[in-house]
Amino acid sequence: MENDIKAVLYSEKEIKETVEKLGKIITEEYKDKNLMLIGLLKGSFIFMSDLARQIDLPCKVDFMVASSYGSGTMSSGTVKIKKDIGDVSGWDVLIVEDIIDSGITLKYVSEHIKNKGAKSVKICTMFNKKERRMADIDADYTGKNVPDEFIVGYGLDFDEKYRNLPYVGILNPGVYQDR
Ligand code: IMP
Ligand code: MG
Repeated sequence: MENDIKAVLYSEKEIKETVEKLGKIITEEYKDKNLMLIGLLKGSFIFMSDLARQIDLPCKVDFMVASSYGSGTMSSGTVKIKKDIGDVSGWDVLIVEDIIDSGITLKYVSEHIKNKGAKSVKICTMFNKKERRMADIDADYTGKNVPDEFIVGYGLDFDEKYRNLPYVGILNPGVYQDR
């Protein structure tokens, strides 16, 4: 698997420090609130488990599955919810996402959660590709702003692989050119 990685962008240690910082900020800001973490599967599964353990507050955890359809790497803007969450009324929801790219998925999902009656909805993303934004949305909490390169590891996949890398790397272009 290591041969497919051109360069390591964030080491395991750097990721850990970033998640610890986010956890402290969120703990402070949500101490008088009714926190519910909602992770978007599958990409957020590792970030969610690390972040949740850095938040020193009682909180509820749930997951959603949403997909944005399009051709190639461009999102079409059509988002479909494949697994919805339960009742969110009265909860201060924090959406936990691996990476925001076009923002189309998150725009839709955050509107959806607001419409379901959440008391508040904010977004925490581990990685943020601001240059690629198409939808009018941004994260309230960002781990790392990343360059416009395709990255894998720490939950992020290419073709469902590399999610289990403990660091984040830039994929060798050869990996997708061979397909
Ligand atoms: P968008 O913001 O609606 O365009 O979609 C964000 C989703 O695209 C993320 O949850 C990832 O699944 C995927 N994605 C975007 N950029 C990358 C990347 O660099 N590596 C792996 N997946 C990515
Ligand atoms: Mg993905």
